[in-house]
Amino acid sequence: MASARVDLDGNPIKPLTICMIGAGGFIGSHLCEKLMAETQHKVLAVDVYSDKIKHLFEPSSLPWADRIQFHRLNIKNDSRLEGLIRMADLIINLAAICTPADYNTRPLDTIYSNFIDALPIIKYCSENGKRLIHFSTCEVYGKTIGCFLPKDSPLRQDPAYYVLSEDSSPCIFGPIEKQRWSYACAKQLVERLIYAEGAENGLEFTIVRPFNWIGPRMDFIPGIDGPSEGVPRVLACFSNNLLRREPLKLVDGGESQRTFVYIKDAIEAVHLMIENPSRANGQIFNVGNPNNEVTVRQLAEMMTQVYSKVSGEPPLDAPTIDISSKEFYGEGYDDSDKRIPDMTIINRQLGSVLLLEPKDITVGLARVDSYLPTPDVRRSCKEGYLKTGNDLRIVYTINLTVFPVKALVNMLKQDQKRKKVAQRRAKRPVVSCNTLGQL
Ligand SMILES: NC(=O)c1ccc[n+]([C@@H]2O[C@H](COP(=O)([O-])OP(=O)(O)OC[C@H]3O[C@@H](n4cnc5c(N)ncnc54)[C@H](O)[C@@H]3O)[C@@H](O)[C@H]2O)c1
Repeated sequence: MASARVDLDGNPIKPLTICMIGAGGFIGSHLCEKLMAETQHKVLAVDVYSDKIKHLFEPSSLPWADRIQFHRLNIKNDSRLEGLIRMADLIINLAAICTPADYNTRPLDTIYSNFIDALPIIKYCSENGKRLIHFSTCEVYGKTIGCFLPKDSPLRQDPAYYVLSEDSSPCIFGPIEKQRWSYACAKQLVERLIYAEGAENGLEFTIVRPFNWIGPRMDFIPGIDGPSEGVPRVLACFSNNLLRREPLKLVDGGESQRTFVYIKDAIEAVHLMIENPSRANGQIFNVGNPNNEVTVRQLAEMMTQVYSKVSGEPPLDAPTIDISSKEFYGEGYDDSDKRIPDMTIINRQLGSVLLLEPKDITVGLARVDSYLPTPDVRRSCKEGYLKTGNDLRIVYTINLTVFPVKALVNMLKQDQKRKKVAQRRAKRPVVSCNTLGQL
C-alpha cells in the first residue's frame, strides 16, 4: 500500500474539498492538473469557461473523475457561489481580469473584476470560517524606489532600492490619470481587506503575489483561440508575431525587466501552501525566481531564436520593432521598471528551494528536447498554425518556457560574440593554400 502523504511537519495530509474560482484560466488549469494527478483532494472548479480544463473531466472514465466538478457560473451575479464556498474546506480565488492591455482601456471592468467581484468571496469565507488562498499580483509593488534615482546613481545597483519584499517594500503607483494602475490598486485594496478580515475577524488567509508565471495555456493567440482585436500578455503577443512572421513589437524599447517562472515550478509552491496551512496562514508570499531576470527585449530575442529552432524558419532580417506605449496600449499606460522578488519569507515558511536558482542549462535543454513537437505538429508549424490552433501554441509555448532564462541570455551573448568574431574574420583577406603556394 502506498504510504500516506505527509506535510512539511510530518503530519498526514487529509483530503480536502477545494472551491477553485477562476479554475478555467491559465494558473487554475495547471493547479487542477496537479491536484488531480498527485493528490486525493476534490476540486469544485468555478469559471465561465472550461476549454483549458475540459481534458480533466472528459471522458468520465478518467481515474479522478469523481474528484472534479465543473460549475459554469459568473461570480458577479450567481447566488450558487455561497453554497459552493460552504461545501469546501479551502477556497482559492484566481478569478480576475489580468491582462495589461485592459488596465488603461477597460479600467472600470478591471477595478470591478479585481476588487468588487472579490468582495463576496472574502465575506463568505470570513462568515463561514473557510480558509482562503487569494491570488494577488507582484504589480502591487508598482515601481521600484530605484527608478526615481538619477540614471547614473550607483544606488541603482543596491538591492535595497529594487528588491521587492512583502513586509518592507512600499507600493508605488503613478498618478490617477495613468489608468494602468487600476489593476494594481484594486488588488492592493483587496489585500488590505483580506488582511483586515484576518486581524479583526480571524479569517485564515494566504495571499499569493505571482511574478510573471509563464507556460502553456497562457492567454490566447488573437484570431485563433481568442478575439482578433485582443492584446494578450507579452508571451502570447510575441508568439502571435512569430507565427505570423511579423517583427516583435517592443514597447518603449523593451527595457522593462522581468523575472519569469515556468508555471509548473510555481505550482509546486502553491501546492505546498495548500497542504501546509499552519505555515501558510496569515502570510503574503512572493512567488518568483529572482535569478531569472531578463529585459523584454532579451525575451523577444530568445523567443525569436527558439521559434526558429522549433519551426525551422530563419528569423526575419529585422526581428523586432520599437513602438511607444501610447501607440501600443493607448493613453494612460505606465509600467513597473523592474520586478525582483525577495524570496526570504516563502523559503522560510515552505522551503520551496525550487524557485531559488536559475535552471541548469543541460536540464533545461533535455526538457526542451523531450517536448519537441511531434512530426505532425512540426509539419503544421511550417504549413500554417491555423490547422493546429491551440495545440500548436501549447507545444510551442512549452518549448519556450522550459528554457532557463538567464542561461539562455548568456548563450545569446556568446552567440553574438561568436558572430562578431566571424564577421571580423570574414573581412580579413583570404589566404588559401593556393595563394600560400604562390607566395
Ligand atoms: N499569470 C501570472 O503570472 C500572474 C501574475 C500576477 C497575478 N496573477 C493573478 O493570478 C490569477 C490567475 O491568473 P491567470 O494568469 O490564471 O489568469 P487567467 O485570465 O488565465 O484566468 C482567470 C480566470 O478567471 C475567470 N474569471 C474571471 N472573471 C470571472 C467571473 N466573473 N466569473 C467566473 N470566472 C471568472 C476567467 O474566465 C479565467 O478563466 C489572477 O488573479 C491574476 O491577477 C497572475
